[in-house]
Amino acid sequence: SLHLLGLEDYSIGEIEMIFKRAEEYLPLCRTGGMKRDDLKGKMIANLFFESSTRTRMSFSLAARRLGADTMDFAPSGSSISKGETFIDTARNIEAMGVDIMVVRHASPGAPHLLSRHLNASIVNAGDGAHSHPTQGLLDIFTIRQHKGDLKNLTVALVGDILHSRVARSNINGLLKFGARVIVCGPPTLVPDELRQLGVQVAHNLDAILPECDVVNMLRIQFERQRSGMFPSIHEYALLFGMNSERLARAKKDLLLLAPGPINRGVEITPEVADGSNSVILEQVTNGLAIRMAVLSLIADERTKRANQKKVGHS
Ligand code: CP
Repeated sequence: SLHLLGLEDYSIGEIEMIFKRAEEYLPLCRTGGMKRDDLKGKMIANLFFESSTRTRMSFSLAARRLGADTMDFAPSGSSISKGETFIDTARNIEAMGVDIMVVRHASPGAPHLLSRHLNASIVNAGDGAHSHPTQGLLDIFTIRQHKGDLKNLTVALVGDILHSRVARSNINGLLKFGARVIVCGPPTLVPDELRQLGVQVAHNLDAILPECDVVNMLRIQFERQRSGMFPSIHEYALLFGMNSERLARAKKDLLLLAPGPINRGVEITPEVADGSNSVILEQVTNGLAIRMAVLSLIADERTKRANQKKVGHS
């Protein structure tokens, strides 16, 4: 595809192509230093209107590892403060010769809007509570590394599902690959309507945990809680936090993911986050390979379409 806006637009075949290429790039991600020239002559712009550590840095490194030039935009210090609109900002940056724009924004649909106004390819790096497709991809890639085929696997997404773009992208991708998906958390953070997506809704972690092969611990998004936190942080940690006692009641080979950032002691205790079931840092390394794959496949598609156009005109 020309863009990556959400996993709903991608077939299993397209996702497998991303995984295959990510496998090729993975040794490069583990060693550091080595470079390729797959994206030589390309310009990748990162437009992050919301905070990020992992996504922004890994997209930036992914582009450089593949030989692209990069530009980083942050709203603070930009002409947004003078009233320049989102679309004008992006179009002016595009005019500097951008091929692919990586966009994170607090408003759901912001990357989709740009894809209708720009010629550059748009990669969604997280839009509000809507979608975070590269996180969904890297989570599924990590699960497959450890568990193989996703069919017959039970994967629980635990926590603040209501505000989680990561949950939506996980649900979309995991269901595509045939996993059984349970969303679990307090009723205030896990709306019942999610059942319509084809997932199981649960409010008691201890009841579902023994069935789980994989648990993805989602962050409580304090910055998006509109009417205060209910239950309280302390109650949440008691009922839904992953700790050593809970882990002892789970399958021995339970795979524990968290997209990061984590609130240590809230969703997950430090000993579990840093323990042997946790693959939190592997997810980050895999994220670099996935983002390299996404950028290079989109660049290939742009080259293919440009060549088709040339042939059409000759
Ligand atoms: N997981 C994730 O998207 O992290 P950042 O917000 O730090 O990019």
